[in-house]
Amino acid sequence: MNKTLLNVKLQRICIGIIVLFSLLASCSQDTTKYRIGVSQCSDDIWRDKQNSELKIGAYFHDNVELRFAAAYDNDERQIQQIDSLVATGIDLLIVAPNQVSTISSAIDRAYDRGIPVIVFERKTNSKKYTAYMGADNYEMGHLMGEYVASRLDGRGRIIEVMGLKGSSPAIERHNGFRKAISQHPNIQVVATLQGDWTEPTAYNIVKQWLDNNPGDDIDLVFGMNDRTAMGARKAFTEARAALPLFCGIDGLPGENGGITLVRDSLLDASYIYPTHGDKLIQLAVDILEGRPYEKETKLMSALVTRDNARVLLMESDEMMRQSQYIEKLHQTASGYLNQLANQRTLTFLALATIALLLLLLLGIYMYYLQKARIDDERTQMEREQLDFYTQVSHELRTPLTLIEGPLAQLAETPDIKNASAGASDLFAIVRRNTHHLTQLINKMLDAQVGAPKSDMTDEQIDAITAKQEPEVQAEGTVPDEEAPTVLIVDDNADIRSYLRSILQSRYRLLEAEDGKHGLEVAREQVPDLIVSDVMMPVMNGLEFCQQVKSDVISSHIPVILLTARALNQHHIEGYQSGADAYITKPFSQELLLVRIDNLLHSRHLLRDLWSSRPVEGKDNIKPEESAPTVSNEVQIEDAFIAKFKKVVEERMDDSNVSVEELATMMGLSRVQMYRKVKALTGNTPVDLLRKARLSRAKELLTGTQLTVSEIAYQVGFASPSYFTKCYKDEYGVVPGEDRK
Ligand code: FRU
Repeated sequence: MNKTLLNVKLQRICIGIIVLFSLLASCSQDTTKYRIGVSQCSDDIWRDKQNSELKIGAYFHDNVELRFAAAYDNDERQIQQIDSLVATGIDLLIVAPNQVSTISSAIDRAYDRGIPVIVFERKTNSKKYTAYMGADNYEMGHLMGEYVASRLDGRGRIIEVMGLKGSSPAIERHNGFRKAISQHPNIQVVATLQGDWTEPTAYNIVKQWLDNNPGDDIDLVFGMNDRTAMGARKAFTEARAALPLFCGIDGLPGENGGITLVRDSLLDASYIYPTHGDKLIQLAVDILEGRPYEKETKLMSALVTRDNARVLLMESDEMMRQSQYIEKLHQTASGYLNQLANQRTLTFLALATIALLLLLLLGIYMYYLQKARIDDERTQMEREQLDFYTQVSHELRTPLTLIEGPLAQLAETPDIKNASAGASDLFAIVRRNTHHLTQLINKMLDAQVGAPKSDMTDEQIDAITAKQEPEVQAEGTVPDEEAPTVLIVDDNADIRSYLRSILQSRYRLLEAEDGKHGLEVAREQVPDLIVSDVMMPVMNGLEFCQQVKSDVISSHIPVILLTARALNQHHIEGYQSGADAYITKPFSQELLLVRIDNLLHSRHLLRDLWSSRPVEGKDNIKPEESAPTVSNEVQIEDAFIAKFKKVVEERMDDSNVSVEELATMMGLSRVQMYRKVKALTGNTPVDLLRKARLSRAKELLTGTQLTVSEIAYQVGFASPSYFTKCYKDEYGVVPGEDRK
């Protein structure tokens, strides 16, 4: 695969895995976006109602998380709580400040940090808020004042019990109430007692006032909230037999709520002080999400009297039922969401594991890819190195051969043998150093490629030459017609000429300058042996050798590869191509002659093709001596011999059959068949045809009653007398004697 293409693919896989991871990560992310802090100044049933409305309101925005804090009417605690909420990193603050001025600093700090602030229900004196939401407490006080006046028919004595001093509803309700009352001169506010919105405080201060004013009749007590009114009522109940009317504010539903108290006549009237947590949340989300919103929102409200208390309770019961239903729905939905989240986590883990496994596999794959690439590069480098050294060695060894060889030849000439001592010494120095140089180059090249030296040592060579000294013919002798033919294949003309100088006195020589030409000569002339170079243009020696060995005409011809390629690997390649011997340059002349001589003499001649006993099976035509190097060659020759035998036995009874005809039947030329048969059997085809006929005749003599003449004609002899002569030559006896 193309490397850049592979890299692009790997990059895509990595990006894919990263995207998968980020998707999984985003799936598993917490979806909460807005953290809203709610700082309540108090903790009571009014705040409880509002908090639960806030919670339900948040259900409709699944990206809202609420964090509640209640200060229990304590300024310092509320300041602290606001600061901590801000520190937890809230996105918006909803605050009901305990008093107008005391909490402002904390609210300002939050606002200054860029946190939107919604002030609700109670006010501050700071302008640092984002929005305000609440009922109009002045109006509420005013309406209550008017109600009280009308309830008392414009005449009576009343006590006002205030809410927490400094808290805005207390101030505003008071102002509104007093304003309304001031319209009725016959209504007298006997006392304005300072409470703090709680029932126990109201109880205590009213009890104290009653103790201090035992005879004072009171017609109505206005508590600024329902709890204050009930505290006052408790004090009155304990102190007086006749109770005044009690009015409060808040008008909550449920047990102890103002509406219930009015319905049960414990309070005369109340005023619904709206909680509206849902609206508050909506306002918060609008601010957070940048939607337009009202900076000041006034919440509408209503008076609760005995006339409408039941209806209001029914309505609020219905509302509560709805709220509970919503709450239940929410619980169920949360259950499902939890399940979903668990499943998502599991899916995430599974996918993450798969992704990790993929990454691991990718890592392993890339590791092996890298390793394979490095191995390839190394192999390539080694191959290039080998080629380089082979080339270099070829370049060096060829001229060395052409120096060493001729020097060796020169040494044998009378000129050198009879030379003066000085000249002889000089000649010896040249020879010794040439040899030394050869050895140095061998060592250097072998060390460079890290291959063991695979040439024979000089001692080994000497040992061979000493044992099997070939018959060296005198220079200038011309080989006779019977001398074996040797084909020299080499592209280097000097090497060819050097080889010629070594071989020409002993063998008839053929030459070719490359493998292709060599193959043509080998097929046409069927030489007895081939000496070939390996590195040649057009067709190299290895391929040439392979082709020689796989052609039925030439398969039997021994091939000596003569080459500069000296490494073990080269030797192996040479023998794999079917070579019978592998000699490296520079070579010794004696070694080459011994190898040629041995190979020519160790051909596996099949002399007994038609002996007295007919040769039938494959085993019988197998070479007697050691097997040839290539089994392929043996198979080709087995097949050739079997075919030759068949052709001869088919045609031998015909006295007119010619060698040409037999060759044609074999698919060869006369020369090709002659050389092949001679090389394999040591006999000419004519000799073998005669042997085959005589062998059959011998069978017929012993196995039939046919006369000698009849037998002679039957086995293809034209004359019985010639048959008798040949028979005697072959078997040493005349046919008549074998008949006995
Ligand atoms: C609740 C409460 C109410 C009262 C309001 C005034 O905490 O005390 O009873 O109407 O606050 O802010």
